[in-house]
Amino acid sequence: MLSIIIPTYCEEDNVHPVVARIRAALDSHLEYEIVFVDDNSPDKTVARVTELQKQGAPVRVIVRQDERGLSSAITRGFREARGDLLLCMDADLSHPPEAILEMVRTQQAQQADMVIGSRYIAGGKTEEGWGLFRWLNSRVAGLLARPLTAVRDAMTGFFVMPRPVFERAKDLNPIGYKFALELIIKCPCRKVVEIPIFFADRQRGESKLNLREQARYILHLKRLYDYRYGRASRFVQFCLIGASGVVVNLLTYAILLRLGLMPGLAYALAIWVSMTWNFWPNHYLTFDLTAHHPVWPRYGRFVVTCAFGAVVNWSITMALLHNVAWFSAHEYIAALAGIATGTVFNFLISHDWAFRGPRLTK
Ligand code: GDD
Ligand code: MN
Repeated sequence: MLSIIIPTYCEEDNVHPVVARIRAALDSHLEYEIVFVDDNSPDKTVARVTELQKQGAPVRVIVRQDERGLSSAITRGFREARGDLLLCMDADLSHPPEAILEMVRTQQAQQADMVIGSRYIAGGKTEEGWGLFRWLNSRVAGLLARPLTAVRDAMTGFFVMPRPVFERAKDLNPIGYKFALELIIKCPCRKVVEIPIFFADRQRGESKLNLREQARYILHLKRLYDYRYGRASRFVQFCLIGASGVVVNLLTYAILLRLGLMPGLAYALAIWVSMTWNFWPNHYLTFDLTAHHPVWPRYGRFVVTCAFGAVVNWSITMALLHNVAWFSAHEYIAALAGIATGTVFNFLISHDWAFRGPRLTK
């Protein structure tokens, strides 16, 4: 049996239309149920579903009293669904119910781990008149996920998967709203098939995904990268933060020189400022999303680490300059090699010592 999970929040005007279109598309083709997961909407969403249920439609509703959130709602629906095939879609008819049958058949024919109704493969489309911002936003969000998956539309909320694949998911962390992406990484879904759909604009009610959700997407990505690539992912974050630290270092140095400080003192201060600048994002982001660790011991250890890193940097640069003839003519490259080695050293000690302790791994 197919279970269609529809998360809802304030969708009273969409319940009847979406059910009608699903029925028109599926009745007499396959056995299915529709499970709405509503977060106690203050409008008549729940009443609309119960009405339909009384009229004998294959629908029911789970009402969550004190939880909010798209992905956790879908998770709840998947867990309580009766079907061996789990599909999720939006209530607002952006996702065409007419595509469901083909998605299910494709899943069965190809034994896919997931079938996605996709906007971004040949034949797929979004409504005309997506403004440049919305379009860019969607494409950039997709690009950022490319190193995680080759799926073109992993950002979707319209997909179907067999229950056993869903149950393989360990460590689900349904905070972000890109739930398909989360499942692709964590189940993991090896065979993902996309079939083209036309993604229509919502006609009734309002979208719930605001800028705050978009910001959370970045955190969601960070977590998925860490989950998938572990230390390498953290190294990239460490380097990006380090690069911003170089800019801060040079700026501070320039400002302090302008203020008339002696170069030696100015540069020492600039190092301290940039080190402190680097500390915070590493503390909150690279090494711990939740940051339950006491700050100052970490800060102290980070300062010590950076000092050692500087010694490594200096020693390597000097060793190259004095022992390899080629480098005496290319002293900047010697310095770069020193910086690279120092950075790797810094990172490894930060990873295993300065920022040690339990880490969020989901
Ligand atoms: N239960 C519950 N709780 N449902 C929610 C919540 C929530 O906190 N937030 C949103 N929903 C429901 C809406 O009622 C709707 O049925 C569906 O989730 C999608 O919400 P929209 O507000 O219409 O989102 P959207 O159109 O901006 O985003 C859709 O497209 C994105 C890709 O462009 C969603 O499908 C996203 O998952 C998808 O990433
Ligand atoms: Mn929508």
